[in-house]
Amino acid sequence: MTWNFDEIRRQVERQIEEIRDIKMLEAFRVQYLGRKGLIQEMFVSLATAPAEEKPFIGRGANDLKQYIIARIEDRRRALQLGREETAEPIDITLPGVASSLGTRHLITQVIQEVCGIFEQMGFAAHEGPEIETEFNNFTALNIPVDHPSRDAFDTFYLDTPDPGNKSRNLLLRSHTSPVQIRIMQAFQPPIAVVVPGKVYRPDAVDASHSFMFHQIEGLLVDRDIKFSHLKGLLSVFCKRLFSEDIRTRFRPHFFPFTEPSAEVDISCHKCKGNGCSVCGRKGWIEIMGCGMVHPNVFAAVKYPKGRYTGLAFGMGVERMAMLKYGIHDIRTFFENDVRFLKQF
Ligand code: PHE
Repeated sequence: MTWNFDEIRRQVERQIEEIRDIKMLEAFRVQYLGRKGLIQEMFVSLATAPAEEKPFIGRGANDLKQYIIARIEDRRRALQLGREETAEPIDITLPGVASSLGTRHLITQVIQEVCGIFEQMGFAAHEGPEIETEFNNFTALNIPVDHPSRDAFDTFYLDTPDPGNKSRNLLLRSHTSPVQIRIMQAFQPPIAVVVPGKVYRPDAVDASHSFMFHQIEGLLVDRDIKFSHLKGLLSVFCKRLFSEDIRTRFRPHFFPFTEPSAEVDISCHKCKGNGCSVCGRKGWIEIMGCGMVHPNVFAAVKYPKGRYTGLAFGMGVERMAMLKYGIHDIRTFFENDVRFLKQF
């Protein structure tokens, strides 16, 4: 009798794949390697085999035996591994992998706090686009063509298809005031809005400058709005944001889009106005610009001449946050270092 070793190998392979437990594996081992198994049968057949076939059967039987031993070992290991995996019940009392909850960025928190104070006083929050027209950002705000803020060194201009047409040039807004124009073009008074958002200026970055920062604009337009409304509104706002004992002063200033214009200072919350390093020994800290809406701005949005008066103000959010939380470097807001951010 001769043996078809290749066919037997294929059969072994098929069988071994079907083995599901140690018992089946043992039965398989006995079938091939047992005392009455196939391999033994092969060796027995050697005795009666023709002389020229003996070496072929001997080598074939030996190779097959080594092969089966190796495959049984493989299978045994695979079965044990599988058992270890399924035998171990899942421990539902183990703590899970905690995913850390994020928090609102401090800038967002300050925006929400500031807008919230104005919302309590009847203002509505609006937003405007960061890409603006030269008309909204400058012209309609009564900023003359030769004003230094229009210079390419002070504003990020964008390429437009029609560079010859000044009023259609696009830019990254350098303040939130252009949203005043958009709101007044879209709505008739009474208007009371606050507008938070990003603004851009090509400043070299240092501890107090960033090419991008945030502002909050305010606009109130109605009949008979007076400077006293402006003073009252912003004084109350400063008390709510900082503390009840904060004092405010309105220093004459100039903005093209307001007349009269002022800068608002608050008494230094650190030294209570006596002079310290926070306020540069002045006792006062400048926090925003404001004024009464210039008649030329009303004209630019085609409001009837003389019918309305209004007040406007604009503040830097980073500056507010730095003052309120004692932060000394504006860059820390934008570096995304969680060790800084998670303190707030
Ligand atoms: N837009 C001014 C600035 O960026 C701030 C401002 C807003 C002043 C509204 C007056 C009225 O400096």
